[in-house]
Amino acid sequence: MKKIIAKIVSAALIASMALAFAACGSSKKEEESKKLVMATNAYFPPYEYYDGETIVGIDAEIAQAIADKLGMELEIVDVEFDSIIAGVQAGKYDFGMAGMTVTEDRLKSVNFSTTYATGIQSVIVKEGSPITSVDDLIDGDYIVGVQQGTTGDIYMTDEVGEDRMDRYSKGNDAVLALMQGKVDAVVIDNQPALSYVAANEGLTILETPYAIEDYAICISKDNEDLLKDINAALDELQKDGTIDAIIAKYIPAEA
Ligand code: ARG
Repeated sequence: MKKIIAKIVSAALIASMALAFAACGSSKKEEESKKLVMATNAYFPPYEYYDGETIVGIDAEIAQAIADKLGMELEIVDVEFDSIIAGVQAGKYDFGMAGMTVTEDRLKSVNFSTTYATGIQSVIVKEGSPITSVDDLIDGDYIVGVQQGTTGDIYMTDEVGEDRMDRYSKGNDAVLALMQGKVDAVVIDNQPALSYVAANEGLTILETPYAIEDYAICISKDNEDLLKDINAALDELQKDGTIDAIIAKYIPAEA
């Protein structure tokens, strides 16, 4: 577990180095496109989720504030989480914003903006479950549900191995599987975990958080201008309190 946290922290360091680099890059402006296309996976409250037909949440609102600052229109597309990075690399989407954790591995494929939020990997179990710690989960014979391609998936693949895992395309499908007794636990980020536990009776979150992570926006390595623009916008939104206000709106405890 310590190793994982160290890995994540160094990923954050590398991200800020990438940033310092980008700041020295060229400043060619892309006038042609007035629209920013954001890829997300909208089953991840309170960062992104559907309110009727509309995708709302912390990421949606911060992205809108960034687009406003840049004088651009925002379009949000809902895709599989594990297709976001490839789509951003291919230029299909301008950026990915999905409560996405900065990791060393992902940094090989895309650039990340400055961090705008912190995530903690948590373990959801049924109330009264014999699993009371991460060690129970790892050492026991239990089946773990995760969302495909997430850091929860990556850690569990390492720690418990494929044979004791079920991967789902959406976080809420993993939670449904837990409710139905198909898996014994779900490893997922803490805020979605809290939302799922609040929405479904009989679930609980283990006290011991699993790993602490930084969330950031991913952008193609071929688009350093956009990285700079997004970071400049994030910086202003950070300083004028907009980001804190958006987060506080969705996570009142952090107000
Ligand atoms: N923070 C985790 C990761 O980056 C999970 C993110 C899942 N996000 C989503 N919108 N479904 O791997």
